[in-house]
Amino acid sequence: MEVKTPKDSLTILTDMVLPAETNALNNLFGGELLARMDRACSIAAQRHCKRIVVTASVNHVAFNKAVPVGSVVIIEAKVSRAFSTSMEIYVDVWTEDRESGQKTKVNEGIYTFVAVDRTGTPVKVPQLIPETKLEKERYESALRRKQLSLVLSGRIKPSEASELRALFTS
Ligand SMILES: CC(C)(COP(=O)(O)OP(=O)(O)OC[C@H]1O[C@@H](n2cnc3c(N)ncnc32)[C@H](O)[C@@H]1OP(=O)(O)O)[C@@H](O)C(=O)NCCC(=O)NCCS
Repeated sequence: MEVKTPKDSLTILTDMVLPAETNALNNLFGGELLARMDRACSIAAQRHCKRIVVTASVNHVAFNKAVPVGSVVIIEAKVSRAFSTSMEIYVDVWTEDRESGQKTKVNEGIYTFVAVDRTGTPVKVPQLIPETKLEKERYESALRRKQLSLVLSGRIKPSEASELRALFTS
């Protein structure tokens, strides 16, 4: 089967924060950011597998810094690991300073998408080979995150999460 690298799926969405997208403090509303991240991740997943994809889970979203109205927001999504029919997509969110153009990391999130056929049945995806140091770190830890997500959603028992258990027993 075809093999891909993370850069094959790189998706960058650049947009501004408008007043209608903010909360009572005039900062970007969390749900609006989640929707933008979901869109970027969906495109990245599609680029990886060239199939219809659906969001299976959203994990580890960290709203570390508020994003004020008028900010330029850059969302970068890449597949961090491919499993059988599912893909983990890591998304980093940055703001860009108007004058210096300097980027500041504000948020990140980890999404799982599943490739499906037209009936919604999961289908296999190409495998992924990470290239950079960061891509390799994210690839290595992805199985733990998948098992945690499956435990939290009740899809597997904690006793079946071998990678997670190894964290505590090694
Ligand atoms: C996601 C979905 C396709 C999974 O279908 P399913 O019949 O349960 O299929 P499976 O049990 O074979 O799971 C498919 C893959 O998803 C993974 N998966 C399912 N739920 C998961 C979760 N909560 N976290 C991580 N991975 C998950 C499985 O581990 C499996 O991965 P693998 O094949 O790479 O090992 C199905 O639940 C669905 O269509 N959900 C609705 C999706 C949707 O509408 N999203 C938009 C939200 S509004």
